[in-house]
Amino acid sequence: MATELRQQVRMVSSIDEMRKISKSFHGATLGFVPTMGYLHDGHMSLVKQSLKLCDHTIVSIFVNPRQFGPNEDLDVYPHDLEGDIEKLEMAGVDVVFHPNSKTIYPDGFKTHVQVDEITQRLCGNSRPRFFKGVATVVLKLFNIIRPQHVFFGEKDWQQLAVVEALVRDLNLDISVHRVPLVREPDGLAMSSRNRNLSPEERTKALSLSKSLQNAKDQIRQGITSANQLRESMKKIISAESGTQIDYISICDPTSLQEKEVVKGRTLIALAVKIGPARLIDNCIVED
Ligand code: PAJ
Repeated sequence: MATELRQQVRMVSSIDEMRKISKSFHGATLGFVPTMGYLHDGHMSLVKQSLKLCDHTIVSIFVNPRQFGPNEDLDVYPHDLEGDIEKLEMAGVDVVFHPNSKTIYPDGFKTHVQVDEITQRLCGNSRPRFFKGVATVVLKLFNIIRPQHVFFGEKDWQQLAVVEALVRDLNLDISVHRVPLVREPDGLAMSSRNRNLSPEERTKALSLSKSLQNAKDQIRQGITSANQLRESMKKIISAESGTQIDYISICDPTSLQEKEVVKGRTLIALAVKIGPARLIDNCIVED
């Protein structure tokens, strides 16, 4: 039976033990995939890339309280540790690092990492603590695990840009690998937060990917005005009652600076609140 052939994944919750294991991999390539758990095929595509490229793969599961604002969904963030472990074990992951909050943020913790400029745009406007929390936890995890390769999804395009800036600016000896966004068959971007949507809300959530597809179609027909594209996208999303658009950004994929016209490679990214979930999605277009 396949299960008998499975190599048992090692569960680690202490920093000392994690460091010892990482050191024992010395001489081999080490890949790392940070996650907050409730794993789906989007996460698993990162894991698969790491397994393909690296001798050993470590996945962290840590719902980082410091990247959630006071009125955000930390308390209802979905968990399924057993299910996650099973998926990671089946895939052939070596180690799961699953620390608790006190381990990562002991009493007296006072150092944070702040990436400027790109963190103030898009999600940074409505989630002012978010990227500081992400950059801090990611650097801590990199320091504990010491991977040569790390894997992040383009679903969180801005987060990826922040991690790339962090690695570049602080001279970390790490390769950051970008992994394409994975969607459900009906177009919904996979997200742990989809779990918190009712069936009706899930149907409404399809308006995000539909609006992106609409923008792509319009660009193909020659429309390049960012305002015009944004208005059409707004119409599609607002047609679903109960949706609340946080932003629709049409911007440069690297600097994340807003564009007035779609010229060259352009990122279209959006965040929309639907019921209890704030969902994000994006795509890259060319004029
Ligand atoms: P989480 O939302 O669990 O996502 C972990 C990684 O999976 C991120 O790099 C994210 O971009 C990627 N991912 C999620 N959904 C995806 C999809 N549909 N397609 C492709 N990749 C996808 O992002 C975080 O956790 C946290 O902010 C973290 C980086 C772990 C720091 O706490």
